[in-house]
Amino acid sequence: MLISYVKPKFMNIQENISLKPYNTFGIDKKARFFVVVKSSSELIEALKWGNENDLIILILGGGSNILLTQDLDALIIKIEIKGINPDWESNEHIWVEVGAGELWHDLVVFAIENNWGGIENLSLIPGTVGASPMQNIGAYGVEIKDVFHSLKALNRLTYEIEEFESNQCRFGYRESVFKNELKGQYIILTVTFKLDKVPKLKLEYGAIRETLAKHNIETPTIKSVSDAVIEIRQSKLPDPKQIGNAGSFFKNPTISIEQHESLKAEYPSIPGYQNEEGMKVPAAWLIEQCGWKGKRFGEVGVHENQPLVLVNYGNGDGRAVRDLSIKIQKSVFDKFGINLHPEVNFL
Ligand code: FAD
Ligand code: EPU
Repeated sequence: MLISYVKPKFMNIQENISLKPYNTFGIDKKARFFVVVKSSSELIEALKWGNENDLIILILGGGSNILLTQDLDALIIKIEIKGINPDWESNEHIWVEVGAGELWHDLVVFAIENNWGGIENLSLIPGTVGASPMQNIGAYGVEIKDVFHSLKALNRLTYEIEEFESNQCRFGYRESVFKNELKGQYIILTVTFKLDKVPKLKLEYGAIRETLAKHNIETPTIKSVSDAVIEIRQSKLPDPKQIGNAGSFFKNPTISIEQHESLKAEYPSIPGYQNEEGMKVPAAWLIEQCGWKGKRFGEVGVHENQPLVLVNYGNGDGRAVRDLSIKIQKSVFDKFGINLHPEVNFL
């Protein structure tokens, strides 16, 4: 039966549109309904309309951590709630409340311009501020939990705005309560960050020091650290504007120290970084060892510089990416006995 939906005049709800411009993988799947919201009241109107019409409702930020495997018979609500508002400050810190729809890197640039430290190592991560707590984004030795103060989120059932402090978010490596126990129950409206008025630089991770030295920078600032991180990232990660991707497709697995030792006997070059739970092994290394690096299968493939990044060369299908990811998981498990878990959200 064909159901006709009466769309409210004050909301621009589009119908049967391609989501290709709205996901960094560049996958061409359709949304039955699509609406952009710029305030919490617009969001509530859109949610109410979706609920009244018994629609599945999905939330979209910048689309840089999703894989579309099908047309979505759903209402997609794209969050564009803006605003970067310093809230209060002490001698050492400034608390800044940021709208969920601000682009993450725009916030980083704004913080650097104001000499507020804490997020410069997270330069150039695509996507929105509202999605940043979802998986506790991280790079180059910093995660947002390190600068997170609180967030405000709309309860999808009651339409009430609730506040969450850091311990309630249960942040972990690429994890939060919003991906687990509270999955699908809240929509993040604003995030408040506690930034440093006297920046403390974090230079230990990866090639940051090396890159600064290459440019003869002896007394780095948050701007020079940001520039270094951007240079490193651009040398490794494909730009989604040129080749569709969603960054690391899998999380880096942690295995027991015993399993790492026994693998080391067989594969002496296996890297490993000790953490509280055991040894973190780079998924990129495991995938490369299984022979996937740079392999192309029609329109999809494994990136030639960073095998943890699966790519769409232009007209790839989300299901082809998903099938490739399953083959990679199987081969890594068969060779090393290690399970890889996707970081990307499948839709
Ligand atoms: P989307 O992809 O739009 O959404 C992701 C999930 O969050 C979905 O489940 C969605 O429903 C939900 N969501 C989005 N907004 C909200 C909201 N306001 N309220 C509730 N739920 C919401 N990640 C890292 O951690 N570190 C990196 O270094 C990194 N590098 C990357 C490099 C590249 C080239 C790319 C393409 C991605 C990279 N990522 C990285 C992954 C990605 O940038 C982050 O996960 C980012 O936070 C996703 O933001 P988004 O707005 O695009 O989210
Ligand atoms: N490696 C290989 N072959 C390669 C590339 C890398 O074996 O071709 C191995 C090397 O041992 C290297 C290691 O992988 O030392 C780590 O590589 P890299 O520094 O590129 O980092 P990563 O572990 O692949 C993680 C995050 C990135 C984040 C960077 C920097 C995850 C899943 N990924 O990548 O986050 O930007 O570190 O901190 O934790 C993302 O989440 O989307 C993302 C891009």
